[in-house]
Amino acid sequence: MKILVTGGTGYIGSHTAVELQNKGYEVLILDNLSNSTADVADKIGLITGKKPDFENVDLCDKASLHGYFRKNKDIEAVIHFAAFKAVGESVEKPLMYYMNNVTGMINLLDEMLKNNIANIVYSSSCTVYGEADKLPVSEESPVKKAESPYGFTKQIGEQMLTDISKVNDFHSVILRYFNPAGAHDSSLIGELPSGIPNNLVPYITQTAIGKREVLTVNGNDYDTPDGTNIRDYIHVVDLAKAHISALERMLSKKSEEKSEIFNLGTGRGNSVMEVINAFEEATGIKVNYRIGPRRSGDVVSIYSDTERANKILGWKAERDLKNMMLTSWNWQKAIN
Ligand code: NAD
Ligand code: UD1
Repeated sequence: MKILVTGGTGYIGSHTAVELQNKGYEVLILDNLSNSTADVADKIGLITGKKPDFENVDLCDKASLHGYFRKNKDIEAVIHFAAFKAVGESVEKPLMYYMNNVTGMINLLDEMLKNNIANIVYSSSCTVYGEADKLPVSEESPVKKAESPYGFTKQIGEQMLTDISKVNDFHSVILRYFNPAGAHDSSLIGELPSGIPNNLVPYITQTAIGKREVLTVNGNDYDTPDGTNIRDYIHVVDLAKAHISALERMLSKKSEEKSEIFNLGTGRGNSVMEVINAFEEATGIKVNYRIGPRRSGDVVSIYSDTERANKILGWKAERDLKNMMLTSWNWQKAIN
């Protein structure tokens, strides 16, 4: 069965491509390499024994995308990862984000409808919940006004899918990721932040290896036990496996609604200091950090209610924070 993975040479997409191939699916990757490199397809091949079909196509290039779908028949479903994802950058360059994430997705959905491809798994984010009123956040928690253009593009993506489902034979699974971390055990694939990382875990590993001088903890005066922000970190391999569960539920027509939503987290919240400590324990390496001011736009705490994903998808995150730190560190050493 052929599955198209957009953004499949990226961080989460590449891990998902591995899990798909391990399960016997034929993977087609489409990516414009704006935030990844073509050799990731070779690495997926090294891990699984089969290099997935890869093509450099930009979702915003309507003509190329049309040609791609004309050439590649019998695609059963799409897993849509391709998007820009840096929150701060989206505030600086909103149109770039609306153009890429929204226009790209419109073009993709248009081709899917024209080619009678009726199944999609979509990468959304816990950012849609904003500062939640109640923790943990369940899928019923209200979607708040977006804090950034990036967050808004994720909300628009969700809305487009539910709107399309109302008037077409079209099925979607919307997955709201909490904080992905970690890398594949082979250290052949992982997260490749371009430039100075915004996210905590790559900043920790780059500091530990000496690429960055000091990690700034963004505030320790929040209303949390140690004063630092709390997030739900989830191993990227666990996350990748959830995509297979979601896909299989949809393809076996078990979905109760044409558009279903699942939170993907561990259900555990960890503070920034706990993440640093877990890294130090897992690797035996001290992280040079200092306490800095709060980062604007950060929510105080968020973690996931995992019941729906556990029960309905039959999926549960298995790896702990230490494993995330260890695999991230092994990956950092491999790419240095
Ligand atoms: P990533 O940047 O590693 O992967 C995205 C891939 O999409 C990249 O390989 C990039 O080259 C490609 N791409 C971007 N725009 C494209 C376009 N117009 N046409 C074709 N390819 C394009 O990011 P990731 O961390 O793997 O994230 C994957 C998805 O998950 C994104 O939609 C992101 O918004 C979402 N998400 C990520 C996180 C996170 O913390 N990593 C959290 C929540 C949601
Ligand atoms: C952010 C986005 C989220 C997006 C995700 C992936 C917000 C509110 N959320 O998640 O929508 O899906 O990135 O791009 O922007 N931290 C430090 N020092 C650092 C880096 C981070 O202390 O150098 C802290 C942050 O302040 C935060 C925590 O670590 O408290 C996690 O930060 P980060 O990895 O950037 O993820 P989020 O902000 O949770």
